[in-house]
Amino acid sequence: MPLVSTKEMFAKAYAGGYAIGAFNVNNMEIIQGITEAAAEEKAPIILQVSSGARNYAKHVYLTKLVEAAIADTGMPIALHLDHGDTFELCKSCIDGGFTSVMIDGSHHSFEENIALTKKVVEYAHAHGVTVEGELGRLAGIEDDVNVSDEDAVYTDPDEVQEFVERTGVDSLAIAIGTSHGAYKFKPGQNPQLRFDILEEIGRRLPNFPIVLHGASSVVPEYVEMINKNGGAMPDAIGIPEDMLRKAASMAVCKINIDSDLRLAMTASIRQHFASNPDHFDPRQYLKPARENIKNIVRHKLVSVLGCNGKA
Ligand code: G3H
Ligand code: 13P
Ligand code: ZN
Repeated sequence: MPLVSTKEMFAKAYAGGYAIGAFNVNNMEIIQGITEAAAEEKAPIILQVSSGARNYAKHVYLTKLVEAAIADTGMPIALHLDHGDTFELCKSCIDGGFTSVMIDGSHHSFEENIALTKKVVEYAHAHGVTVEGELGRLAGIEDDVNVSDEDAVYTDPDEVQEFVERTGVDSLAIAIGTSHGAYKFKPGQNPQLRFDILEEIGRRLPNFPIVLHGASSVVPEYVEMINKNGGAMPDAIGIPEDMLRKAASMAVCKINIDSDLRLAMTASIRQHFASNPDHFDPRQYLKPARENIKNIVRHKLVSVLGCNGKA
């Protein structure tokens, strides 16, 4: 089976009231852990590559590893550029075989965001590739860009229809209070998402797939494992799972998860070395780390996204 588009995945997810998991990848063990879980749970998935991941692992290694995962599992997998910030980067991923790209013009003015997004959409659609745009700004860290809480802006529902109509995007990432990274809320703060904004956007854009970035739960048991085994992440807090389930039952069709995979891998490796200080063969600690990625992805597919059995 070749790489698939997100179009059909999103149409089914919208109609079925569930969401597709979009998991960030940058090496073989992460790709294997995710796709083995997806195969066991018969779940369609999106593997996504940030520009930092692409620089780290190289485009050709990532596309070949994803091809290998499809050959190994036979699963419907879409390959997506996460947070593309220029037309050139999007073009390079489209030319290099990705089936979906995100152009993140959220740091630009409304008009500049529209102009950049439209240019990417024209090129992508001419090559059969779908495009995710973004309106509103999430707090947190992506690559080297650190958006402070004060600079974060919720998506304005009054802008979404015009943005979608003028750009022709296939899906839209919105800001309703999620943020990138492992520190989404302050200790003692009551996590809240603006479901009123999501609901209004759903009304303005009927049958249109919405994307939620910054959606890791920052799984407390992994944070605890890290802190117990020499780490120092005492204030790491994520999005409560019941809020993600609610978003998936609404217009949200794609939920982005990266930090939880990083935590799963790091927690496992720290625990492994705490119990086996003499180990030095990478397979000894990467095997349980890959297994832990598989465990967390299976949990997300079945208990959070509801996309198991939908492939
Ligand atoms: O949205 C950000 C993703 O977690 C990717 O992170 O840019 O550090 O690879 P990265
Ligand atoms: P997390 O940092 O919450 O995993 O978000 C990842 C993301 O939005 C990737 O685009
Ligand atoms: Zn993101």
